[in-house]
Order: sequence, then structure tokens, then C-alpha cells
Amino acid sequence: MENTIETSTGGQSVALVIGANQGVGFQIAKALTANGYKVYVESRNLDNGENAAAEIGTNAQAIHLDVTEQSTIKAALERIGKESGHLNLLVNNAAISHAGKPGRTLEEMMEDGRATTAALEEVRAVWETNVFGVISVTQIMLPLLRKSSAGRIVNVSSGLGSLTWVSDPACWARAHFNVV
Ligand SMILES: NC(=O)c1ccc[n+]([C@@H]2O[C@H](COP(=O)([O-])OP(=O)(O)OC[C@H]3O[C@@H](n4cnc5c(N)ncnc54)[C@H](OP(=O)(O)O)[C@@H]3O)[C@@H](O)[C@H]2O)c1
Repeated sequence: MENTIETSTGGQSVALVIGANQGVGFQIAKALTANGYKVYVESRNLDNGENAAAEIGTNAQAIHLDVTEQSTIKAALERIGKESGHLNLLVNNAAISHAGKPGRTLEEMMEDGRATTAALEEVRAVWETNVFGVISVTQIMLPLLRKSSAGRIVNVSSGLGSLTWVSDPACWARAHFNVV
């Protein structure tokens, strides 16, 4: 990353946490503010983001984007650029585990998600968020990360995304990938 002077925020580190209105992302945002960061609490529903930012307190600000909509990511880039001038940290945390019928049990979702039988439209929807969304947000935010002295990107994953784990026949989730 090229060296630049972080003046817009008076030297304060700035983070953008994607999917921060609940769950893991909310806790990451909370921990970052406790460690002195100014945090953009990203939410695809701005009201939920504002509630989360209010709960986190000073140094947390809600921001809207949807990782599947490039225009919203570009609008967020513009706002952060104007307000803060740079980004020290991007946390790609947003993800969905399925895009099918709501109300299914975990077992039913796992069954419906088998590689051999999964509905292609559901696979596409999940990849749109979990894969292409991450690439999209990262590419669009890179100019702001490059303006900080040591920009960092953290991609939150899952044990189910670990090739090492799911390649192990002893892994509890291994059966999910077996051809049946
Ligand atoms: N919880 C666990 O036990 C666990 C275990 C392993 C890994 N993880 C990983 O941790 C991360 C967060 O999981 P979580 O359990 O905290 O999930 P969660 O509570 O469902 O939170 C996911 C967040 O992502 C947001 N999101 C989903 N689609 C989006 C989109 N298109 N654009 C912008 N934001 C979007 C959600 O917004 P809405 O509120 O609007 O839906 C929500 O804020 C994921 O990457 C997951 O793989 C979690």
C-alpha cells in the first residue's frame, strides 16, 4: 500500500464492517470502536444499521449498501471518501447460508444444499452474496484502503468454507459434499 497522510479523521483509524447490524459483524464493530476505531456499521437495511450504530455508541455510524448492488457500494465509497478520506480496515463479514424457502430446519437446508441436487438459482443467489459480493466490495473499496498507511482486509469465513475441514472424511459436514 502506498504511504499517505491520514488527515481527514485526525489520525483515527477507520473501519468498514459489512453486515454489522447483527451477529458476528455487530460484535466486530463493537470491539473495533472499543479499540479506538471510527466504524462504519454497514447494513442493507439502513434502519437496522442506525439502531445498531446507536447501540454501539460514539464512533459508530450507520451506512447502507447491498453487496449485490454495485451502485450502493459506490455510493458508500463516495460518502466514506468525503467524510473520512481513507479506510484502514475492511471487514467482509456479510453472508447468507441459503436463499431458499424460509422456515426450514438446518438438516433440511443442508439436504437441499447438496452439490448433487441443489437448485441452481439458490446456488447462484448464495454465490452472488458470499463470493461475488466480497469481490465487488473489495475492488470498489481498494482506492480508500490504498489511501491509508497500512490498509487491511479481513474476510470472515466459516468452517464449512474450509477445504481442509470438508476434505477430511471425519468432518461432520463431509457427508454434505458426498455424491449420493
Ligand atoms: N454465527 C456463527 O456461528 C458463524 C460461524 C462460522 C462463520 N460465521 C460467519 O460469520 C459471518 C456472519 O455470520 P452471522 O452468523 O453473524 O450471520 P447473520 O447474523 O445472519 O448476519 C449476516 C449479516 O450479513 C448481512 N447481509 C446478508 N446479505 C447481505 C447483502 N446482500 N448486503 C449486505 N449485507 C448483507 C445481514 O443483513 P440482514 O440483517 O439484513 O440480513 C447481516 O447483517 C458470515 O460470514 C458467516 O459465514 C458465523
